[in-house]
Amino acid sequence: MGLFFSPVKLLTKSVFLFQLCIFTLQAEQVSQSAVAMPDSFSADTAKNILEQGGNAVDAAIAAQFVLAVTLPEAGNIGGGGFMLIQKEGKSDFIDYRETAPQAAHRDMYLDAQGDVIKNKSIYGIHASGVPGSVAGMWLAHKKHGTLKWATLVQPAVTLAEQGFKVPPKLANGVERYIANLQKQKINVNFEKYFAGIKANKVFKQPELAATLKRIRDKGQDGFYKGETARIIANFMQQHGGIITQADLKNYTAKSRIPIKAKWNGYEVLTSPPPSSGGIAILQWLKMYELKKPNMGVVHNSAQYVHLLAEIGKRVFADRAEYLGDPDFFNVPVSALTDINYLEQRSESISLTAISTTENIKPGLKESEQTTHFSIIDKMGNAVANTTTINLGFGSGVVVEGAGFILNDEMDDFSAKPGAMNAFGAIGGKANEIQPHKRMLSSMTPTILLQNNTVKMVTGSPGGTTIISSVYESILNAVEFNMSAADIVNSTRFHHQLWPKNVIRTHAGLSENTKAELIKMGYTLDERRFGDLQVIINKNGQLDAASEKSGRGKSIVF
Ligand code: GLY
Repeated sequence: MGLFFSPVKLLTKSVFLFQLCIFTLQAEQVSQSAVAMPDSFSADTAKNILEQGGNAVDAAIAAQFVLAVTLPEAGNIGGGGFMLIQKEGKSDFIDYRETAPQAAHRDMYLDAQGDVIKNKSIYGIHASGVPGSVAGMWLAHKKHGTLKWATLVQPAVTLAEQGFKVPPKLANGVERYIANLQKQKINVNFEKYFAGIKANKVFKQPELAATLKRIRDKGQDGFYKGETARIIANFMQQHGGIITQADLKNYTAKSRIPIKAKWNGYEVLTSPPPSSGGIAILQWLKMYELKKPNMGVVHNSAQYVHLLAEIGKRVFADRAEYLGDPDFFNVPVSALTDINYLEQRSESISLTAISTTENIKPGLKESEQTTHFSIIDKMGNAVANTTTINLGFGSGVVVEGAGFILNDEMDDFSAKPGAMNAFGAIGGKANEIQPHKRMLSSMTPTILLQNNTVKMVTGSPGGTTIISSVYESILNAVEFNMSAADIVNSTRFHHQLWPKNVIRTHAGLSENTKAELIKMGYTLDERRFGDLQVIINKNGQLDAASEKSGRGKSIVF
C-alpha cells in the first residue's frame, strides 16, 4: 500500500497482496543520494561528505558534529542518541545514550518528604547524564566509516572557529530561553556563552572549536580523557555536580541488535531498548492493523484520531511498567510486540467511545527538543540518527573552558514511581535511577525495508511525541501514500494515557474533527511537536523533506 503503489487509500487484503506482488517484481536499487537534515549547515556538510565518496555513516558523523555547533538547542557533544544503520544489507544500532554517573542514586531528585524537587533534573548542574555522543560517533566510525575521522570532524571545527551566520529562528530560541532562565532565576552559564547570538550575524565559539580539535586529533579520547575530561570534571566539582573523570573514562557506546518486525508487507527496522520507541511504534502499527474498520478510515478524522489515541493509552501503560535499560532490567520485547498479545490488548478498544484512563493497566500477565536526520547514500545504505540533550538547550549548563552545553537527560529517568517527567511520562522500577544505567528514551530512528531495499528513513525530535511522529509518518507513507513533503507537514497527534483524555496536536486538524473529538470527551492541547526528517524511495526515485516549521533542509542529488 501507499509509498510504492498506486494512490489507493483503502484496500482490501486481496488487492493489497496483488499490489505487493507487483512491487516485488519491481524491487529496485537506489542510484541517488538524499539527506533530510534539521539545518542547512548539516545538510550541506552531509552532501559534501557523500560527494567526497563517503558513505551514509560518514555523512552522519560529520553532520552530528556540525549540529553541535549550529543547532545548540539539540545538536550536541554533551548529550547522546541512537544511530540506526542499514549498510550493505546488514543492520546495526549504535546506542550512545547518556548514563547515570556513579554517584547517582534512586532518590536524588526527591526532598526530605519524598517529593520531587521541581526542575532539579531539568536545569543546572545536577540534570546531566554522562554524555555519549562522541563515543557513539567513534564507534560508528570504527565499525562502518570509510573516510578519515579528522575529515569528518573538521567541518564542525571550521564552523565553530570561523563562525556561522545565525538563522533567525535560532536567535529567537536563544532569546526566549534566556528570558525563561532569568524568570526562573537560574544562572547556569548559558547567557554568558550564548547572549551574543544575533540573527543573521556571524557567531563564533572558540572554546568549542578547541574541544572539537581535541576530538578531531585524538578521537574519543579527546573527549573522555585528557584535557577535556579534566575540564568537565573540575567544572562539575566547582559547581557541586557529580560527573567525574572516572565516569567519563568508563562511558561506552554500545552496538545493539535493532528490532526487526514484519508489518504490512515491510520489514520495520527500529530502535530497541533503552529506546521505548521501537516497541511502541510496533504496538501502535500492529494494533492499528487489527482494529481499523474494514471500510477504512479517513485520514485525521475524529474516528482515526480516536482509534490511535485508544491504542496510545495501552502503549504508554506498557511503557511505564516494562521499559528501561535492558542492561539493568529484563525488557519483554517479544511479548510486548507479539500479535496474539496485541490482539487481546486491543480487544477492549471501542471505535466510538473513550475508555476510562484509570482502567488501562500494563497488559502483560504475570523535550522538548532533540534532533533527527535521515540519510541515504547512492549505494543504498541508510542512516537514521536521533540525538538529544533532552529539552531545548539541555540543562542550560555550558562547560566553562570547553564551550559545550550539557544535557538534562536525567529527567528521562523516573524520579519517583508515578511522577511525571517533563514530557508527562510516568515510570516505575524499570526506569528508576541507578549508577551507570541508561535512562529510557522515546527516540525512534526507524527504517522501512522491502526485499532488503531501503524504502523509508524516518525520525523526529519531540520527547514522547517522537513515537507518534514516527508511527504516523509510516502510516502517512504506507496507508495514505503521501509525498515526503506531505508526510513531514501533515498534522499529527499524540495520546499517552496521562494526562487523562488529552490529545496533543499541532494546529491543522479540521474544525469538524476537533468538534467531534471534544464531543467524545477529549481535551485538545494544541502545540507544535516534532521536526520530522523523512526520505522515501519510490521505485528508485528518492524524495526527501524536512518539516517546514523547523529550519531543516533536504537535498536529493
Ligand atoms: N530526551 C528525549 C528522549 O530521549 O526521549
